[in-house]
Amino acid sequence: MTSLPETMTAIGFDAPGGPDVLKPQTRPVPKPGAGEILVAVAAAGINRPDVLQRLGGYNPPPGASDIPGLEFAGTVVALGDGVRRWQLGDQVCGLVAGGGYAQYAVVHESNALPVPAGLTLTEAAAIPETFFTVWTNVFQRGGLKAGESFMVHGGTSGIGTTAIQLAKAFGATVLATAGSDDKCAACRELGADHAINYRNEDFVAAAKAATGGRGVNVILDMVGGDYINRNYEAAADSGRIVQIAFLNGPKSEVNFSRLMLKRLVHTGSTLRPRTIAEKAAIAAELETKVWPLLAEGRCKPVIHQTFPLAQAAESHRLMESNAHIGKIVLTV
Ligand SMILES: NC(=O)c1ccc[n+]([C@@H]2O[C@H](COP(=O)([O-])OP(=O)(O)OC[C@H]3O[C@@H](n4cnc5c(N)ncnc54)[C@H](OP(=O)(O)O)[C@@H]3O)[C@@H](O)[C@H]2O)c1
Repeated sequence: MTSLPETMTAIGFDAPGGPDVLKPQTRPVPKPGAGEILVAVAAAGINRPDVLQRLGGYNPPPGASDIPGLEFAGTVVALGDGVRRWQLGDQVCGLVAGGGYAQYAVVHESNALPVPAGLTLTEAAAIPETFFTVWTNVFQRGGLKAGESFMVHGGTSGIGTTAIQLAKAFGATVLATAGSDDKCAACRELGADHAINYRNEDFVAAAKAATGGRGVNVILDMVGGDYINRNYEAAADSGRIVQIAFLNGPKSEVNFSRLMLKRLVHTGSTLRPRTIAEKAAIAAELETKVWPLLAEGRCKPVIHQTFPLAQAAESHRLMESNAHIGKIVLTV
């Protein structure tokens, strides 16, 4: 086995702030603990929560690396005690609570998955955060079933592009909202049956029209604010609304009578602080139910642009511009 270096380049920041606080730093190569693998990172996905972390609003949970980055792909180069599933040289993608923007990262063996057949390491790095999030929120919490209708706000976000494809692949009628006609066209290309430009169309009226007046069975929302009340209006009887973020703020005046009269379920979750075991359970379902679809090309990570690791600041600037469609990835 080739010996590993003591130090590596990672992206960190000394104090919260704009994209330029992200700088290459020299850090110790992490050591895999019991049940963990060390991966030589080839690529790391960027996610909106990384931007919130850089701004000082989403600190890593206790015990997690302070290096940003929730997902990566690469080659296994060291094994912690008791690792059973992986061997040196395996190519994996991993979900972590931090540490992805680096040359090396550790992940619990149960929170890593094989690089899906036919995908590059760069593509694989763009999978874990959105696929875990969509699976647990849309299918496990929201209980989306074939034949139902599904609406995702932010249809061209990393989350949205994954949600459209998975909901479609599992037999739902898919609605997506987005902020421009170009973004709406991208949603349709990914499989959305209806794409609603929320800047010039009322999504509640459009959702009712698209569902024959019945409303939508499952809504995945990252916007919050006044969308909460409007989601209640757009939902069908016994609809499920799953909250994964509040880009327009977590507070709102809501008419709860709709929740009661329509028997709605309004729930939500965040992935990052969940336990290794909970993430492993999501990984196991993904591997059985979704990895075959990735290998068959029936869904895929949508990559907008890649940047070298040292240009992490540029990648965050692009994300904050909201000009992207799909994922932004750092190559290492
Ligand atoms: N709960 C969880 O476990 C979890 C996990 C991962 C991500 N998330 C959340 O899911 C959301 C999407 O993440 P992502 O990485 O996929 O994001 P992303 O690719 O950066 O996309 C965000 C998109 O949201 C839309 N948007 C709508 N209202 C917005 C507003 N007020 N400010 C900024 N953008 C707005 C924008 O598209 P338009 O031009 O169409 O408006 C923007 O492109 C984020 O809020 C993130 O924090 C939650």
